[in-house]
Amino acid sequence: MSVQAHPAQTRVAVVTGGSRGIGRETVTRLAAAGHAVVVGYAADGESAGAAVEEVTAAGGSALAVRADVADEQQVAALFEAATAEYGGVDVVVHTAGRMYLAPIAELDLAELDALHRTNVRGTFVVAREAARRLRRGGALITFSTSVVGLAFPGYGAYSASKGAVEALTLVLARELRGRDVTVNAVAPGPTATELFLDGKDEETVARLAAQPPLERLGTPADIAEVVAFLASPAGHWVNGQVVRANGGIV
Ligand SMILES: NC(=O)c1ccc[n+]([C@@H]2O[C@H](COP(=O)([O-])OP(=O)(O)OC[C@H]3O[C@@H](n4cnc5c(N)ncnc54)[C@H](OP(=O)(O)O)[C@@H]3O)[C@@H](O)[C@H]2O)c1
Repeated sequence: MSVQAHPAQTRVAVVTGGSRGIGRETVTRLAAAGHAVVVGYAADGESAGAAVEEVTAAGGSALAVRADVADEQQVAALFEAATAEYGGVDVVVHTAGRMYLAPIAELDLAELDALHRTNVRGTFVVAREAARRLRRGGALITFSTSVVGLAFPGYGAYSASKGAVEALTLVLARELRGRDVTVNAVAPGPTATELFLDGKDEETVARLAAQPPLERLGTPADIAEVVAFLASPAGHWVNGQVVRANGGIV
C-alpha cells in the first residue's frame, strides 16, 4: 500500500508501532506536517493499512511495512523500504512496545524475556538502524514511560525495560556528535490506548486519570504533538533529553 506523488523536499518519517495507539496518531500528525510516513507494525496489518489510507485520503504519502522491531533483518528492510520509496530517512519515531505487569515476587520469566526482547532489544535494533541512516537535520524519538520515575508497584519489569531505553537514548545523543541529528525520549504518563486500558477495571482507570493536576488521562494526540515538536526544526535544540509528557503527574 503506497502513495506516490511527493515533492523532492518532503521529510521522511519511519514510525514503528504506527498501526495503533500513540504511533497511529503520530503517523497522522507527522503526515499533516508534510512528512512522507512509513508505518511499521508487528501483526495488525488491517490497522496499519487504515493508517495509510487515512494519510492518503488527506493528500499525503504513506506506506505500511511489517517488521518485528527486535528482528534486525526486518528492521533493516523497513528502513530500506523508506529509502527505496522516498529517498532517505529524516525522522524515526520508535513507539513500538509492550507492557507486562506483575509484582516482582510473581514474575514470569518467559514474559520478562518477551518484554525485554521487544522493548530493549527492539529499541537497540531500531536505534542502531536510525544512527546509521538518519540524514542531517534529523531526529530519533524513542519511548519511555513516566513510570520510570513514579515507581508504581507491579511495573518493575516494564519500568526496567524503559529505564534501559532512557539510558541508551541519552548515550546515542552524545554518540551522534557532528551528525546534526537529535535523539530524545518521550515518557508519557497514563494515555488512553489499548496498552494502558487492557486489563484495567474502571476504578483503576479513574484513579490513574485523577492523579495528574490536569485530572484526566493523556490522549494519543497529546503525545503526538510532543513528538511532532521534537521531530520539527522548531524542536531541534532539544537534544539528549527525556521529555515527561504526563499532565504533571508525580
Ligand atoms: N499508553 C500508555 O499509557 C503509555 C504510557 C507510557 C508509555 N507508553 C509507551 O508508548 C508506546 C506506545 O504505546 P501505545 O499505548 O500506543 O501502545 P499500543 O496501543 O498497544 O500499540 C502498540 C504498537 O506497537 C506495535 N508493536 C508491538 N510489539 C511490536 C513488535 N515486536 N514489533 C513491531 N511493532 C510492535 C503494535 O503493532 P500491531 O498493531 O501490529 O500489534 C502497535 O502498533 C510504547 O512504547 C509504550 O510503552 C505508553
